Amino acid sequence: MEQFLTRAEFQEAADYVRAHTRHQPRVGLVLGSGLGGLADAVEDADILQCSDIPHWPKSTVEGHAGRVLIGKLEGQSVLVQQGRAHFYEGHDLQHVTLPIRVMQLLGMEAVILTNAAGAIHPDYVPGDVMLITDHINFMGMAGFSPLRGPNDPTLGPRFPDMSRTYDPALCDLARAVARENGLTLHEGVYVGLSGPTFESPADLRFLRTAGADAVGMSTVPEAVVAHHGGVRVLGFSGISNKANLDGSTITTHQEVLDAGLVITPRLTTLVRGVLGRL
Ligand code: HPA
Repeated sequence: MEQFLTRAEFQEAADYVRAHTRHQPRVGLVLGSGLGGLADAVEDADILQCSDIPHWPKSTVEGHAGRVLIGKLEGQSVLVQQGRAHFYEGHDLQHVTLPIRVMQLLGMEAVILTNAAGAIHPDYVPGDVMLITDHINFMGMAGFSPLRGPNDPTLGPRFPDMSRTYDPALCDLARAVARENGLTLHEGVYVGLSGPTFESPADLRFLRTAGADAVGMSTVPEAVVAHHGGVRVLGFSGISNKANLDGSTITTHQEVLDAGLVITPRLTTLVRGVLGRL
């Protein structure tokens, strides 16, 4: 029989975090591949190693530092997950999303999820940022949901609605911040796949037909768990590469990390602006 994580185990992780910080974080920030630099902006940080937190999954991917920083950003107390674990590394989705349960049990109000993504939308170019307004839960459709298993009603409902997963008011804040800073902010649908292969040209043509604008290997399970648990979600995709719908180019992880250098200052402006208005 498969083992599922229980509320008691999420609580153990949350208790560890609470015992190791002077701050009471209100907003979570999950930093995607190559975007870890955003953590440098956090002031007065308590720094935890993921490997010390009970049940916390370890990322093995280059570009993911494996730290949790709790400190101040734009006057808000934030918990920053610098590096995330992915399904393709072999973690099950309950472990992948455990940090979100910890945020929920710490009483945090919102989480800002960021990722590196390939552009399916023909107008997006590397370095662009897309506000995630909806997702296609491809992993979930294939039977891999972080909510599979016994449902603890004290964490959320058995059959959660997913029609407003990306908080409309937070999306409005992000739009306002982009406008005020003269930043182009695309809006679109993110499709989450399990990876680790990048998509074939035929996969990408299929995903385009299905309505996806950006593609990546994370975020959706976290958004599902946050929404299930009543934590408001804001999501940004940093476009690291053009998806290769015609097979004419190849995609590499190095490209993803390089684009992160351009995307990080843009995301920093957006995240700071949103936090300042919360
Ligand atoms: N596909 C999937 N995941 C990704 C990509 C991509 O093209 N770029 C960055 N993460």
